[in-house]
Amino acid sequence: MSPRVAILGGTSAIAVAVARRYADRKARLVLVGRDLAALEREQADLLVRGAEQVVLQQADFADLAALPEAAQAAWTAFGGLDLTLVAYGSLPEQAECAASAEAAAAALALNFNSPALLLGELANRFEAQRAGVIAAISSVAGDRGRQSNYVYGAAKGGLQRFLEGLRHRLHPAGVAVLDIRPGFVSTPMTAHLPQGGPLWATPEKVAGDILAAIDRRKAVLYTPWFWRFILLIVRSLPRPIFHRSKL
Ligand SMILES: NC(=O)c1ccc[n+]([C@@H]2O[C@H](COP(=O)([O-])OP(=O)(O)OC[C@H]3O[C@@H](n4cnc5c(N)ncnc54)[C@H](OP(=O)(O)O)[C@@H]3O)[C@@H](O)[C@H]2O)c1
Repeated sequence: MSPRVAILGGTSAIAVAVARRYADRKARLVLVGRDLAALEREQADLLVRGAEQVVLQQADFADLAALPEAAQAAWTAFGGLDLTLVAYGSLPEQAECAASAEAAAAALALNFNSPALLLGELANRFEAQRAGVIAAISSVAGDRGRQSNYVYGAAKGGLQRFLEGLRHRLHPAGVAVLDIRPGFVSTPMTAHLPQGGPLWATPEKVAGDILAAIDRRKAVLYTPWFWRFILLIVRSLPRPIFHRSKL
């Protein structure tokens, strides 16, 4: 049977690269996002690439009250799911979040509350099904609070803890939970940053790592691999040294 895959945040550049790989595997895909025109272009592309079926659903993930309905629609499109990937998010300006509680609240809600609530809805269904993989993109930014992006980092760190707890809960049901922690990836989200150099990866490279981690039912993925070691160092820097850095 072709795999049933729901991608929440279907227009994310990383998600598009993942979806293309599942199209190669003749998957049935549910793409959920707010930009229907972009989703339709992606749907046409994925069908040409070999996807068996591509169903579209419109949702604004900042609308927390609408999440239960979005989860239900994604779950029922093919009568259950083998994989769900949560791939949406925003990269807020730290200075703006420090100056405005409204900006901080929006960033925290989209990057933590929303995926946590959505995954909570889906987790109950995966648990009852007793099979499948839940994957979500957090970030290396969640590994240690840093002056340059601690609101985003706190939301992603919270998501990491949520996924850890979900993994613990769903283990007896045979459901795997994957926490994906990319470093710098060249996507629209990072288009305003100076790019290039060995630390930057393409969405295609990250997508390859994500599929391999899903296939192996891994718990935590740093992608590309070297971020595991960079973050090991960042996390273990003694505070007096860390405080002298501008990380
Ligand atoms: N790029 C990096 O360096 C990097 C590093 C670590 C982690 N990440 C994480 O990777 C994930 C994917 O990001 P990306 O790099 O692929 O960036 P991206 O291409 O800019 O994707 C961001 C996605 O979030 C969606 N989105 C934002 N707000 C939304 C809302 N209210 N409702 C529905 N969808 C919404 C966007 O939809 P629209 O197309 O409608 O705008 C887009 O699909 C994010 O969680 C991000 O935090 C990225």
